[in-house]
Parts: sequence; structure tokens; C-alpha cells
Amino acid sequence: MQPKLKSKVRCTDREVGEVTRVIVDPLSREVSHIVVGRNGAGVPERQIPASTIEAVTDDTVELRAPSSELNQFPVFRRDEYVTIHEVEIAHLEDHLHVQPGEVLVPLPELERNVKRRTFFTNLTHAIGALIALPLVYPVLRYVMKPMYAPFDNRWLKIGNVNRIKADDVGVQFKFKKTVKEAFMPEAEVDKNVWVLKASPPVLEEVYKSKDMEFRDHTGGVIWTNKRDVPYVAYSGKCPHLGCGYKWRNVPKLGRQIFLCPCHLSIYDASGKVLDGPAPRPLDPVPIRVATNGDIEIIDVEYKAGTKVQTRIV
Ligand code: FES
Repeated sequence: MQPKLKSKVRCTDREVGEVTRVIVDPLSREVSHIVVGRNGAGVPERQIPASTIEAVTDDTVELRAPSSELNQFPVFRRDEYVTIHEVEIAHLEDHLHVQPGEVLVPLPELERNVKRRTFFTNLTHAIGALIALPLVYPVLRYVMKPMYAPFDNRWLKIGNVNRIKADDVGVQFKFKKTVKEAFMPEAEVDKNVWVLKASPPVLEEVYKSKDMEFRDHTGGVIWTNKRDVPYVAYSGKCPHLGCGYKWRNVPKLGRQIFLCPCHLSIYDASGKVLDGPAPRPLDPVPIRVATNGDIEIIDVEYKAGTKVQTRIV
């Protein structure tokens, strides 16, 4: 009968503890040692060879040594063993009649020298990385370049102020823009902004008595909309989820508003959210008006769905 985990361990004179682990010889596939956990806190477990076992019963392992000799057996070192589930030894479990628990086999000598093994593993990885670097670098640079491309700060001419006939009325200006999406070829896309000639109260609501600065990807200021220039341009994308919105007369409200049909966000002429799920006001973009009335904008875009403006284009 093989010793069982949790069996009591008796020396010739008294009981000394219990079997906490069983160690198996991977070659003979027989139990080579038992580990005895002894009564008393802080008493180290001892590793007792199977040859010291006198008899095994259902719940007791009897040793043929007196308790006074137990200390001559080596202290058990868990890091020198692995459980039988961590190694693949053919048919090992067929030979065992030990209840499931902590059944161990010794860690091979080579495996114990972890520092040496780790050193050689790391060295191999380092050499591999050095060899691969010249091949991988150009690919990585190509793949990652679009992620760090600077924003497009080109001024785009979108029309003339002579289209704007009244104050505080949104007028849509459509324009075409050449864009280059990551690895796609250049393409021309249709875009739009809403421009209005703001009355002083609306201008105050937009600028809150402060000029509005716009920044590039490095944080440097690329343009400042002056608070005393009456022309205001809003990005054509709703800050909620980026849909296009319209300027609408709503008789029920007795006023005109910007209305986004996607989820019914409503903004007033200053871009302020009057209703709906939009997390922030409409996004003003850089605008300048030439003396002949030509309007130019920078097509700045911000991440949709966030309270704070985060520039993405
Ligand atoms: S995208 Fe405009 S309200 Fe949702």
C-alpha cells in the first residue's frame, strides 16, 4: 500500500505529524519519499525516504525511526520539485495509488539552475532581436508613421461672406478636401462647415470674452480666432457622434437652431447645447475673412462623444 496524503505519521515512540506530500521517483515510478509536516508552528517539513517506512495502513504511516532522529532527515525544499501535473512522464499516474493532492517529482538538475538557463534564454532573444532589427525597423516606421503624422493645418477657401444675408443665421459652406488616410491613396472628400455672422450677444456666448486659440499636434498655437471678428465657423460634424447637422427654423420654439437628426441634439446659434445627448457645444474652427470677403478655414476636427475637445485632424 502506498502512503496516503494526510495520513498520520508515527515514529516508534509517538505520533509526529502527517504526510503533507508524496515524492515519486520518475524512473522507477515508485514513491521515493514522504514529506512529513510536523506538529507545531514553524517546525520545518522533513523529507523521509520510503526505506524508513515500516508499515502503511489506511490512515497511518509507521516509521522505523524514533522521533528523536527525525531531525537528521533533510528539510523539504518545495522549489526543487514540481507536481506530476507540470511534467509529462508517461504512465506515471498508472503506478500511483496516492489520492490527488501534492504529489511531486524532483525538478531535473538543469531546470534548477534557473539563473543560468534564463541568462542563455535572454541572450538568445537579444541576439535574435539584433538580427531582426534592420529588417523590422523600416516596416515599423512605415506602419507607425500615419499615427504620428502632424495635423493638417492648411487654410482652405470655402466661399464668400456675401452668401450670408442676416446675423445669427447658420449658412452651410461645402468644400472639397484632399485627404490621405493612413495607407490609402489620396482622395478628395466632401466636407462642410457652418458659418454665421454673429451678433454681439452670440459672439460673447461663443468666446466668453476670450480669444480662441487653436493648436497643432505639438501644442503650439497655429491660429487665434479674435473675439471681435463676427464671423464664426463650426465644424460640420456633431460633437455627439459626428453626424452632419442642419440649420432649422422651429416654429414651435419660435427660433432657429442647429438640429442633428441622428439623436436629436439641438444647439443655438452660439453652438450651445439646448437639448439632446451632445456632450459639448459645437466645435468652432479657425476662420479668417479676407478684405474681399473670401472665407478661409482650417478643417480642425475633434473626437466625437467627449466633453473635452481632443483634436484628431
Ligand atoms: S450624432 Fe448628433 S446627436 Fe448624435
